[in-house]
Amino acid sequence: MKIQKVGVVGCGLMGHGIAQVAAQGGCMVVVYEAEQKALDAGLARIDKSLAKLAEKAKEKGGSFDAAGVRARISGSLDKQALADCDLVVEAIVENLDVKKALFAELGKLCKADTIFASNTSSFPIGAMAEASGRPARFVGLHFFNPVQLMKLVEVVRTDKTDAGVFEAARAFGVACGKTAIACKDTPGFVVNRLLVPYMSQALLMLERGDASAEDIDIAMKLGTGYPMGPIELTDYVGLDTTLFILQGWVKAHPNESAFIIPKILEQKVAAKQLGRKTGQGFYKWEGDKRT
Ligand code: 3HC
Repeated sequence: MKIQKVGVVGCGLMGHGIAQVAAQGGCMVVVYEAEQKALDAGLARIDKSLAKLAEKAKEKGGSFDAAGVRARISGSLDKQALADCDLVVEAIVENLDVKKALFAELGKLCKADTIFASNTSSFPIGAMAEASGRPARFVGLHFFNPVQLMKLVEVVRTDKTDAGVFEAARAFGVACGKTAIACKDTPGFVVNRLLVPYMSQALLMLERGDASAEDIDIAMKLGTGYPMGPIELTDYVGLDTTLFILQGWVKAHPNESAFIIPKILEQKVAAKQLGRKTGQGFYKWEGDKRT
């Protein structure tokens, strides 16, 4: 079961990166977006990232075939373009009902052996797998932000995922240049199950006044070698995204003591200070850089 043609639904923060790394891995890629404006913006992000990778490769005396990668990516406003894909990866808004409706539609539209994957960071894969009508051909493929640079993909199997489908999805992750780890369909899989409570604990520290945001971040960078401290990382991921994940988990798992929503996070989101994406969170941002 070799994956050669990949569909990506959603060309936003994660979707554009997934489309790009799939094309870098040699796949033909079609990206679906509902609106031309969103599609153009996503493809422009891919162009910018490819240009950056080419520039970096040149600096190091190597080369990077940005034009070749770009030629393998096309955009479409019509879901029918996904029908003959070997794999369709969903990277749309984190709303379970919207995702389930999408997969129900794709289940009818795509060829019988298309594998479906969700890049969800917090919802159960099993719920979407059932909605698709083909639970044996469904996995989670959880990439990390920024997809082009982060080296991991979590490959999530449910009790119903076919072993061959799982292996094909894992091989796809490796073709995308990632190290693929296997995990079960549990809340947050491996990374977010550890990372989100850690970010939440850092915000609770800030709320209590135990240390400043800068000092908490410096402590974790220098004390543990993380590339970003937890508060900077919350800004980077998005305060709304972090809150949304925590709210869903607190509701679904009320007895799990690690899932706590810091008030300071709710206040920032209410004030629309969402981090990097709005230029202001716990820090100020200009584009991808903290100022
Ligand atoms: N494509 C191509 N190049 C890119 C790029 C992209 N998308 N993004 C950044 N770059 C380039 C930068 O422009 C920069 O180039 P330059 O050296 O010429 O300026 C170069 O890559 C390195 O970037 P930085 O200067 O910002 O250097 P860093 O070494 O700090 O790397 C980072 C940036 C990889 C983001 C690093 O800070 C990091 O690893 N941070 C932690 C990120 C993380 O933990 N992500 C996971 C979040 S959790 C998640 O995604 C799960 C979700 O479900 C919530």
